[in-house]
Amino acid sequence: MLTAGAVCVIVFLVVAALALILPDPDREPASELPALARSHGIDLGVAVAVNPLTHDSRYRDLVTDHYTSVTAENTMKWQYVQPERGTFDWSGPDAVVNHAGDHGLSVRGHTLLWHNQLPDWLAQGSFDAEELRAVMREHFGALMGRYEGRVASWDVINEPFEDDSPRLRENLWHRTLGEDYVAEALRTAHETDPEARLYINEFGVEGSGEKADALYELASDLLDQGVPLHGIGFQGHFVHGAVPEDLAENMRRFAELGLDVEISELDVRVPEPATTEDLEAQADEYRHVLESCLAVSRCVGVTVWGVADAHSWIPEWFPGYTAALPFDDDYAPKPALGGMIQALSRGRRAQPRATTRTMSGRR
Ligand code: XIL
Repeated sequence: MLTAGAVCVIVFLVVAALALILPDPDREPASELPALARSHGIDLGVAVAVNPLTHDSRYRDLVTDHYTSVTAENTMKWQYVQPERGTFDWSGPDAVVNHAGDHGLSVRGHTLLWHNQLPDWLAQGSFDAEELRAVMREHFGALMGRYEGRVASWDVINEPFEDDSPRLRENLWHRTLGEDYVAEALRTAHETDPEARLYINEFGVEGSGEKADALYELASDLLDQGVPLHGIGFQGHFVHGAVPEDLAENMRRFAELGLDVEISELDVRVPEPATTEDLEAQADEYRHVLESCLAVSRCVGVTVWGVADAHSWIPEWFPGYTAALPFDDDYAPKPALGGMIQALSRGRRAQPRATTRTMSGRR
């Protein structure tokens, strides 16, 4: 005979199990975006921050409901991963990679060599070439090695060109190793994880122009030398009204070199205060970016740079601008989300839009 206490425990356990299995009636239905993206063979990704990812279930749900891939917005950067030489902090990267693994999302690794967000010991250290090579090898070995098989692609080189010119940036790596540092880093990354897809990631190269041409020359040279370069990330931090019209054409010439291409950090910032008209025109811009990716057969995905406006880097880094992402401060979907759905809802890969260089977002 079961006692009344045992019956209570059993009833409690059954109810608890059902609560876990059955959908929460208050939850919005999951969106069609992941299935749509997959139907085109592309990833739709989002940059995530560790704190809300681990503490805010609504934020987590937006990620898993709408996207097929994640990028760590900050936590895989050198400053956080290796704050002291030989001391590694895996708490943030593990949280991102485990969340992705638990929900069937792929992970873009961001980033290995960059001039920003370096720890002091590295930025202010004085290393000769041989020591710096060892530092590079140790860092790649630890970070890429830990996530081998779980992080499919890496931004090995981030922002190799100067902000506003087509010259190779005079960063720590360039100064110490010479301009071959790009090839060296790619080779080292390939030795560390031979299966990983290795990228150069850059901004201001999304439409045609001098900087895009310089990147094209660099990519061609590297491929001619047999350097393991597999893709180009076009960041896509756009200003509303100035999204390049010729995105697809520009990405296509890189694809024709045999490279994968992707929009890796999409946001479209709007001057404050964002009007309803602005947000509607921004939807067209998001649609255009997705359509441009679909128009290039080797475009493997689009990643938006943040889950919701509440967490976007834009207000801090570009004062006077706001509302750059597909969800607002309260996590409500904006017209931009509809723009992405529209682009992906077309049955087949769309044709690029033609001709002029920038879209007239302000109408
Ligand atoms: C940004 C993050 O979004 C911010 O939170 C951080 O303070 C600075 O870096 N290009 C890149 C990204 O490759 O890593 C940058 O991310 C945005 C510009």
